[in-house]
Amino acid sequence: MTLQIKSIDEYHTEYARSVADPEGFWAEQAATFRWHKPWRQVLKWNFREPNVQWFVGGRLNITENCLDRHLETRPNQVAILWEPNDPKRKPRKITYKQLYGQVCQFANALKAQGVKKGDRVCIYMPMTPELAVAVLACARIGAIHSVVFAGFSAVSLADRIKDAQCKVVLTSDGNSRGPKNIPVKQVVDEAIALGCDSVEHVIVHQNTGDPVAMHSDRDIWWHEAIKGKRKSCKATIVDSEDMLFILYTSGSTGKPKGVVHTHGGYMVYTEYTFRNVFQYQPGEVYWCTADIGWVTGHSYIVYGPLLAGATSVMFEGIPTYPDPGRFWDVIQRHKVNIFYTAPTAIRALMAAGDTWVKGRRMPSLRVLGTVGEPINEEAWHWYNERIGKKRCPIVDTWWQTETGGILITPIAGITPLKPCYATLPLPGVQPCLVDANGNEIEGNDVEGMLCLKFPWPAILRTTYGDHERCRQTYFAAFKDKYFTGDGARRDADGMYRIIGRVDDVINVSGHRIGTAEVEDAINKTPRVVESAVVGYPHDIKGQGIYAYVIADGPVADEAAFKKSVLDTVTREIGPIAKPDKIQVVPGLPKTRSGKIMRRILRKIAEGDTSNLGDTTTLLNPEVVEEIKAGAV
Ligand code: WTA
Repeated sequence: MTLQIKSIDEYHTEYARSVADPEGFWAEQAATFRWHKPWRQVLKWNFREPNVQWFVGGRLNITENCLDRHLETRPNQVAILWEPNDPKRKPRKITYKQLYGQVCQFANALKAQGVKKGDRVCIYMPMTPELAVAVLACARIGAIHSVVFAGFSAVSLADRIKDAQCKVVLTSDGNSRGPKNIPVKQVVDEAIALGCDSVEHVIVHQNTGDPVAMHSDRDIWWHEAIKGKRKSCKATIVDSEDMLFILYTSGSTGKPKGVVHTHGGYMVYTEYTFRNVFQYQPGEVYWCTADIGWVTGHSYIVYGPLLAGATSVMFEGIPTYPDPGRFWDVIQRHKVNIFYTAPTAIRALMAAGDTWVKGRRMPSLRVLGTVGEPINEEAWHWYNERIGKKRCPIVDTWWQTETGGILITPIAGITPLKPCYATLPLPGVQPCLVDANGNEIEGNDVEGMLCLKFPWPAILRTTYGDHERCRQTYFAAFKDKYFTGDGARRDADGMYRIIGRVDDVINVSGHRIGTAEVEDAINKTPRVVESAVVGYPHDIKGQGIYAYVIADGPVADEAAFKKSVLDTVTREIGPIAKPDKIQVVPGLPKTRSGKIMRRILRKIAEGDTSNLGDTTTLLNPEVVEEIKAGAV
């Protein structure tokens, strides 16, 4: 058994073994954790219903594995190294022992507020250590956390609170992001006023010190809630398949869905992937720049690193504050060994110029990683040369909210690299490419839709409250396969390159945005009759949002009209979904059955109108010329 793959030969052996005997393979990995009751069956599965269960009958608590078991070996090692937004403030270093105490204390506070096993707790907090404490405290008592990125609007937050019927909301007085403080508690108040009847209490962490309105019957300060609470709390032992968390993510249709992950499989998989992909060595400092509001933060700031006993850096701010040298500054100061970020950040910092990198010494760096969207060749080389000095392998990690952990990636220092390639599947991961008819495409040097043929321990179990939607979205397109929504190519060497989404999901700065969701929001703007949203290539964001909007009549003041569209989207979803370009159009190209021809709109948004294909069969071919002429 190998806990950490050490050579490419070993990778191939482990991979072959994981396919020949997946149950034996994962059972050995799982055996390294603390269980209260062993599983009676490693895996039960079918992709029809779907029904996937790992370590069936096993009982555990993930936080005992993140915290308690490290108390014997590394109580005084820093678990979370917090870098504040304001570089003049002191970083906070929280050891495993201290984190254990804080998690237990807050778990006791949650219990005192009436939170029980299986209750849903919404967490709408900035990137302070208390956010990680909150997540772990929920898990400690078997409550299900639903973290909502603190940049979402009150409307989006309310949708998520209602969908999961959250009993408690955890928030802060404010969120320091670059030069501004964002009043997050106010957003929570607005959200709850939108009819979140399930919410009994709001616990407010004092972060910025900004004044907030407290509702005496409902709200309580974090520091009051923990007062007098003990710093130990017996972990609630749960079933391997009990829900650990819900995380909402966008798809091609409808409102975001609550992807569900469970305790046992998620634990085994995030730890295994963290340890192997980054080749984490004891004592190293690891920094993932994501927000815990996204899956990357869940799996690779909180759970994976803590399970592996790592020192995980948590950063409150943004890459460009106070200047675009901030990341490099933090790496230098905290002697970061492993750095994991998103292509959009790399492109933005590359565009800011090399002066911000020059003069920074980063000899501690050993491994670089990227995640969230395809990385373009220029950014890959810049990252490799300027940041890694050509001596740090880049792990281009492909995965999704639904996969819980990394699936296709190089293993640092072991897998041969190829710019822009996620390269090879990790052990236990069985990808395949499928054509439009659902036939598997064999051989190499081919392209198709990326699917997975076999479950890995952290695959999503359901979408909260709507299992049929889970089946429809991921398991219905191709028989007995999980469909990712991504297109990929497998080159002559059998290496995978992710091309991007093949559905109506766009990837803006590494954030998944459903076009239908943005259209629904735009359509709520006064005077808007209909809209269509597509993605287009954007230098920094990867993809930008292009919105075609039909108004109910002539628009005299176009600037004011567009502003009202932007304001509505900000209100309904949040600033991350704001269109980059808005074009007011007289109509949208439609087929005779009334379907919007997005292919044409995509081409126009890309600025490529040379070959729009046959438009004569459209219901309204004349509108295409008008849209072309008015493209922005
Ligand atoms: C995209 C983020 C290319 C992909 C972990 C996927 C990537 C979606 C990569 C999931 C990568 C993620 N190369 N594309 N290395 N990583 N993606 O759920 O389109 O926020 O389907 O999870 O991001 O986004 P999500």
